[in-house]
Amino acid sequence: MIGQTDLAGSFTLHGTSMTVNRMGYGAMQLAGRDGNKLVWGPPRDIDAAIAVLRESVASGVNHIDTADFYGPHVTNQIIRKALSPYPDDLVIVTKVSVRRGEDGSWIAAFSREELTAAMHNNLRNLGLDVLDVVNLRSMLSIHEPAEGSIEAPLTILAELQQKGLVRHIGLSNVTPAQIAEARRIAPIVCVQNHYNLAHRTDDALIADLARDGIAYVPFFPLGGFTPLQSGALSEVAARLGATPMQVALAWLLQRSPNILVIPGTSSVEHLRENLEAARLQIPPELVSDLDTIG
Ligand SMILES: NC(=O)c1ccc[n+]([C@@H]2O[C@H](COP(=O)([O-])OP(=O)(O)OC[C@H]3O[C@@H](n4cnc5c(N)ncnc54)[C@H](OP(=O)(O)O)[C@@H]3O)[C@@H](O)[C@H]2O)c1
Repeated sequence: MIGQTDLAGSFTLHGTSMTVNRMGYGAMQLAGRDGNKLVWGPPRDIDAAIAVLRESVASGVNHIDTADFYGPHVTNQIIRKALSPYPDDLVIVTKVSVRRGEDGSWIAAFSREELTAAMHNNLRNLGLDVLDVVNLRSMLSIHEPAEGSIEAPLTILAELQQKGLVRHIGLSNVTPAQIAEARRIAPIVCVQNHYNLAHRTDDALIADLARDGIAYVPFFPLGGFTPLQSGALSEVAARLGATPMQVALAWLLQRSPNILVIPGTSSVEHLRENLEAARLQIPPELVSDLDTIG
């Protein structure tokens, strides 16, 4: 295990007292799979899932990303079993506005009833009285951000915040226009969009958010269900004596100080490898090689 100070420094969420290490953990991979239904049902080995969570926190991870629609419910229940009572400094970030169909599909769930139920499901399954951060996940297009107002669901989320169900609000799968719209309704502490070495649509957005002190949390930092594969990446990794996944994470951490990473894994071995990436420094000439991938 590596010590807390090694996790790529820390970042305080804008306007909050929540400070997290920049190397975090994404819990989506802890749920199981049932044929074509991804992130569905219990994992094959629940003890292994618990071990991943416990080792991540013991190694200094204090930022865990989750959602009650992972499993559904399963991932949050595993987090509770592994980590509750939670360490004081642990920040659990969850997301709402999605529900799962019986066929495993991901369905928009933006109504007041659905958003309220999602908040209570998260509270119950995580065993919390109040959620640290809830991201409103836009579902106007499922895979990539799409323009359209998010005022109505965000207003509902802000009301639930005022009722004390959640401390802070973030956004996911959103465009710059939606972020601007949201910031007129409620303070936004983080934005979670698809971004990695090979998928760089948000380059300009990251810089804009950095100027305002808002965290940018790339999802699929390693490429998601099919991890990144690239000749340039493998070559840089070989030159640094690191693995391609470590280089992909170190590149994100070097990319901008407001980037917080949440790599997902169901394996303790991969977790250790990923945490070690926080120590990796990529020299500028190799960053240029990596930039050709995007
Ligand atoms: N807001 C959103 O819409 C959204 C969407 C997707 C994800 N997320 C969040 O973002 C987090 C990260 O995304 P993700 O987990 O989907 O994808 P990811 O972190 O890009 O990659 C996870 C995949 O990489 C593999 N992996 C992890 N470490 C590895 C290593 N060292 N060597 C080789 N393979 C490795 C994992 O398999 P193993 O289990 O075998 O290690 C898994 O298949 C999620 O956990 C979730 O919390 C949010």
